[in-house]
Amino acid sequence: MNTRVLTGITTSGTPHLGNYAGAIRPSIQASKQPGVDAFYFMADYHALIKCDDPQRIARSRLEIAATWIAAGLDPEVVTFYRQSDIPEIPELCWMLTCVTAKGLMNRAHAYKAAVDQNTARQQEADDGITMGLFSYPVLMAADILMFNANKVPVGRDQIQHLEMARDIGQRFNHLYGQGEELFVLPEVQIDDEVATLPGLDGRKMSKSYDNTIPLFEGGAKGLQSAVMRIVTDSRLPGEPKDAEGSHLYTLYRAFATGSDSAQFRKSLEEGMGWGDAKKQLCNLLETQLGPMRERYAELIARPDLIEDILQAGAVKARRYSQPFMERLRVAVGLRTLSVSVPQTGTSARAKSKGKQARFVSFRDEAGQFRFRLLGVDGQELLLSEGFADPKSAGQVMGLLKSQPLDNYTTEDQGVVSLRVDQALVCQFDASLLPELREAIAGMNQD
Ligand code: TRP
Repeated sequence: MNTRVLTGITTSGTPHLGNYAGAIRPSIQASKQPGVDAFYFMADYHALIKCDDPQRIARSRLEIAATWIAAGLDPEVVTFYRQSDIPEIPELCWMLTCVTAKGLMNRAHAYKAAVDQNTARQQEADDGITMGLFSYPVLMAADILMFNANKVPVGRDQIQHLEMARDIGQRFNHLYGQGEELFVLPEVQIDDEVATLPGLDGRKMSKSYDNTIPLFEGGAKGLQSAVMRIVTDSRLPGEPKDAEGSHLYTLYRAFATGSDSAQFRKSLEEGMGWGDAKKQLCNLLETQLGPMRERYAELIARPDLIEDILQAGAVKARRYSQPFMERLRVAVGLRTLSVSVPQTGTSARAKSKGKQARFVSFRDEAGQFRFRLLGVDGQELLLSEGFADPKSAGQVMGLLKSQPLDNYTTEDQGVVSLRVDQALVCQFDASLLPELREAIAGMNQD
């Protein structure tokens, strides 16, 4: 089974070198690992919480999307989308809001920090605090739970949000799951290998400290002039430097191979001047970022191309979120009124009436033999590919009845393929798995 890795970036600014090394680069690397099913998105609803400047939000969405693609994200491999293109996310957010304890949100660090600031300024505790900021963790939980992510790589400041997402998911499962896990409980992934870059002044590189090195903005010149502004100590060329204690070295190491870093360090310890060291860092960064910057410029000039990529990403993401949301609506009681309303859950009802799922075979227009699996209510759960003769179709149905479904399935990017002896029987959305498993497990073994 693949591991679904999901992460989002808030679209309220322009990515800098620290965002690249700390989030973008490792996420892209992770997406290329075998067994990883990556969902990466732009948290543009979250951006509205922090920023009420429409131009800035719009610009940031474009820049961040272009940055990801220029940095090597493959939209064929990753499900890459904008939060605001998935209407199921705010819908789920509301469902979660209704099961989230207000007390839990009172404890959120970001909210508490805002309250503390107000108190320190002798203002009213909630002065200037919006419901968006207060409920921020619920929206984030919806982002994550919507796609049943297993792992969520984030910075340390987000650990509490992940704990809250688990709490909320668990509560929802308990209330509505009827013994089944509707939501996977996500795990936070903090990667110690991933570089947290120091900024120009040595503190963590961050827009709020105004100490960032731009990634693409300002071109090679902008990069160079920022590197020249990195603060160093006053040791002169020829004097041995404390490489380990210098953030210039930390920056170099985040982009160089082990042996190049060792060489750089040795040169510093042997007295390389800071000016020369900065030149080396510039060259190193330029070799890696230069080609990406060109791609970035091309993409920024073609927003229509990026839009197409994101629209295709939304289609891919919604292949999962739409059917899953259907299930969630049913789970909370927002089902359509045009089918009979059971008194209890599907499985209990099926047992009490002795009803079972069943296979129905037929011959299609092309003369091939196919079958359907019909659920207890007679609705189609799956439709097979065509078989050349009825016997092969029959054998496959027999096998499926006699063994757990998972013996025959593999999942890739939320799409499950069911194969018997290598031959594809059918494909369906992964969110249907629990229902199919239940249907097949409940069939007579005759
Ligand atoms: N809150 C995250 C941040 O500021 C961004 C984010 C929004 C996110 N939704 C998410 C991250 C879901 C991971 C998963 O960094």
